[in-house]
Amino acid sequence: MENRPQWGTRAGFILAAVGSAIGLGNIWRFPATAYENGGGAFFVPYLFALLTAGIPLLILEFTMGHKYRGSAPLSYARMNKKYEWLGWWQVGIAFVISTYYAVIIAWAMSYSVFSLNLKWGEDTGGFLIGEYLQVAAPGEIGGLVPSVLLPLVIVWVVTLGILFKGVKKGVEVANKIFIPALVILFLIIVVRALTLEGAGTGLNAFFKPDWSTIADGKVWVAAYGQIFFSLSIAFAIMITYSSYLPKKADITNNAFITGFSNSGFELLAGIGVFSILGFMAVQQGVGVDEVVAGGVGLAFVVFPQIINEFPAFKELFGFLFFGSLVLAGLSSLISIVETFIAGVQDKFKVSRTKAVAFGGGLSALVSILFATKGGLNFLDVADYFINQFGVALAGLVQVIVVVWFARQLKPLQSHANEISDVKLTGFLGSWWKLSLAVITPIVLGYMMFDLIRTNIA
Ligand code: PHE
Ligand code: NA
Repeated sequence: MENRPQWGTRAGFILAAVGSAIGLGNIWRFPATAYENGGGAFFVPYLFALLTAGIPLLILEFTMGHKYRGSAPLSYARMNKKYEWLGWWQVGIAFVISTYYAVIIAWAMSYSVFSLNLKWGEDTGGFLIGEYLQVAAPGEIGGLVPSVLLPLVIVWVVTLGILFKGVKKGVEVANKIFIPALVILFLIIVVRALTLEGAGTGLNAFFKPDWSTIADGKVWVAAYGQIFFSLSIAFAIMITYSSYLPKKADITNNAFITGFSNSGFELLAGIGVFSILGFMAVQQGVGVDEVVAGGVGLAFVVFPQIINEFPAFKELFGFLFFGSLVLAGLSSLISIVETFIAGVQDKFKVSRTKAVAFGGGLSALVSILFATKGGLNFLDVADYFINQFGVALAGLVQVIVVVWFARQLKPLQSHANEISDVKLTGFLGSWWKLSLAVITPIVLGYMMFDLIRTNIA
């Protein structure tokens, strides 16, 4: 398999990695997660997780992909035959995420069209559940919902179409268009949000620290979960993307750029979302805590409601918001699907076309489950399961296997140093090793222990 595809440019790789990282997690997950876990005080565990787990693991994954030049299962196997299963486990998580991630993008696509005539009407919650998702009564599993199925098909046609074209002509080109476009759209949104009446109220609520949360284990779980999901680490994705780097490529610098861009975008999203929530709170004469929501509720119930109350250009603003969700989501979905396609391709030595058709097709088929009348419940279950047990556990096992069992820290460090401008020596070297060998396993280990304990109790 030595005719492995390659990125055309360094910027192409960075944009693809940043494109994978910046996703729905930044826009609809981070703001509410931060707010619910201590507001300004959340930044302490969040930054700790970024600096001792997020960026160190990103460097680890970039280096593994570059050194072993394979999708995750192949890279783990080349590292040590015994550990191929870990790659498949991570590929499996990526597969599950892809099935419901695609559905949320489909919703955002519908809503960007609905924005054009504010189709959701006055009762936005009722519209979502009743008219759009056509949710069935509890326990009852209904048939397909055409209003979701159509955009879902479009999402898959676009995603698989891009993947068929390959790494350089497909993935790289798409990200070179999507990511700059996303940044521009989102900046427009944030500037508009900041100039709304009530923006200050919202930002105050967002940044006001509740220090009592700092000692709460759940808050740390939330911070680590956010970092792992948001940076797309422990899902085999960054290993896959870096396996397409040319021989001469920077690792550490690219990891810092990716990590900080993602968190920067997250902060920007928090500022934008809370300015807008502040506006709504002031309009309705209630406190910000009464209008806060995360996930589905934030994007598809609260936002449409706010857009209804906008002073001017409601339709345009709605279109920009949901359009940016679509762009952020697609660039992440592409990376998730690429991960298992690459795994299948390396393992079974099939052509890219076949791998895309089979792997992508399978995910598309499974995702239809979420476009049924009971789909919303499945989606909640999948998301909960992935976040509670998939993400942090896979990260924990990854560091233990790579660092302690396979003894890879030294070889990976020298590999990264051979090719990177920023060297992992001196302080940076100690920080990197200490983070991966000691801090991350201890914190994640404790978190898993706590999670199991509280779930049993
Ligand atoms: N990082 C993406 C986000 O923030 C989501 C994602 C998760 C992408 C896992 C790839 C893998 O939304
Ligand atoms: Na992200």
